[in-house]
Amino acid sequence: MKAIILNEFGPASHLRFADLPVPQINDEEVLVKINAIGINPVDVKTRQGKGAAGAITESPIILGWDISGEVTESQSSRFKKGDEVFGMVNFPGHGKAYAEYVAAPAGHITLKPGNISHDEAAAACLAALTAWQSMTEHFQVKKNQRVLIQAGAGGVGHYAIQIAKHFGAYVIATSSEKNKKFILSLGADEHIDYKAVSFEDVVSDIDFVLNALSSDIAERSLSVIKQGGTLINIASSTTDAIQEKSQMKGIKVLHTMVKSNGKDMEQLADLLENNKMRSHISEVFALEDIQKAHNSIETGRTVGKIVVKP
Ligand SMILES: NC(=O)c1ccc[n+]([C@@H]2O[C@H](COP(=O)([O-])OP(=O)(O)OC[C@H]3O[C@@H](n4cnc5c(N)ncnc54)[C@H](OP(=O)(O)O)[C@@H]3O)[C@@H](O)[C@H]2O)c1
Repeated sequence: MKAIILNEFGPASHLRFADLPVPQINDEEVLVKINAIGINPVDVKTRQGKGAAGAITESPIILGWDISGEVTESQSSRFKKGDEVFGMVNFPGHGKAYAEYVAAPAGHITLKPGNISHDEAAAACLAALTAWQSMTEHFQVKKNQRVLIQAGAGGVGHYAIQIAKHFGAYVIATSSEKNKKFILSLGADEHIDYKAVSFEDVVSDIDFVLNALSSDIAERSLSVIKQGGTLINIASSTTDAIQEKSQMKGIKVLHTMVKSNGKDMEQLADLLENNKMRSHISEVFALEDIQKAHNSIETGRTVGKIVVKP
C-alpha cells in the first residue's frame, strides 16, 4: 500500500513516499481503506520531534491520526466489512494514518453519517474532539454562559464555536478581519479582530475561554474571565504568572490533551448528522503532496481544516 513515512524528525522534506505491506489487525481492531485523512498542527510538531513524538517508539513513523474510510476486515463485533467509519486513532500514540490502509481500534472510531463526505468526516476528528472534550469533559458549557474562543477560524476554533452554540452559550471568537464572515457564519454572536483591537478592551464577564494560542494570550484572557470561570489552554503551557493571577482571581486553569474516544466520536457524528456542526475544508491535497499539506498547516493561517486523499 501507499504510505508516507518519516525516518528522522525534521523538515517536511523528510516525509517520504513508501510502498508498505497492508497492516495486520488484532482483536478489537478493524482494517480501514482510507478515503480521507485530516491534517493537524500536531502532525507538524511530531514531524519535528515534538508533539506526540515521545509516545511513538516504532520506526519508521507514519504520521497522522484522523481517518475516514471503509472497513475491509473486522475483528470487532461493532463494525462489519463495508461500514463507513471515521475517527482519531491511537492519539496520543502512533496513529499511522498517512496510508492507504489503517488498523483502527474499534473503540476509537464510529460510523460516518451518510449525509457528509469522507473529507468532512476526516476533518472532524482530532480538532472536533478537542473542542468537544474541552466543553463536555473538562468544563461543561451551559446555556447563556459567555464563551470566548481564541483562534475561532482554525481547526479547533471553528468546531468549538459550533459546539458552544449547540449548548446554548453566547459565543465570542477572535480572528483577523478576513475571517470575520466565516466566524459569524458558524453562529458566533460576536467577532473580535485581534489585529485591530485588544480583546481585553471589548470583552468582559466570560465564563469559559478556550485558548488555542500562546501563554501570553492565556495570561491576557484571565483579565476578561469572571471569578469562578475556567480557562483551557490547549496549545501553550501554564506559566507561573498565569498560576498566580488565576489563583488571585479564583479562575480555574487547565492544560488539556485530546484523547481517542469512540463514544465522543458518536456524539460528534450525531452533531454532523443533524446539521448542528459542519466541517469547513479550505484545502485538499493528494497524499503525494503531503509536504505541501504540511507547509500549509505550518503557516498557522489555514481556515477550518485541510484534508489529504490517498
Ligand atoms: N492539547 C490538545 O489536545 C490540542 C488539540 C488540538 C490542537 N492543539 C493545538 O492548538 C493549536 C490550534 O490548533 P488548530 O488545529 O486550531 O490550528 P490551526 O487550524 O492551524 O489554526 C489556524 C488559525 O489560527 C488563527 N490565529 C492565528 N493567530 C491568531 C491570533 N493571534 N488570534 C486569533 N486567531 C489566530 C488563524 O486565523 P487568522 O488567520 O484570522 O489569524 C487561523 O485561522 C495548535 O497549536 C495545536 O497543536 C492542541
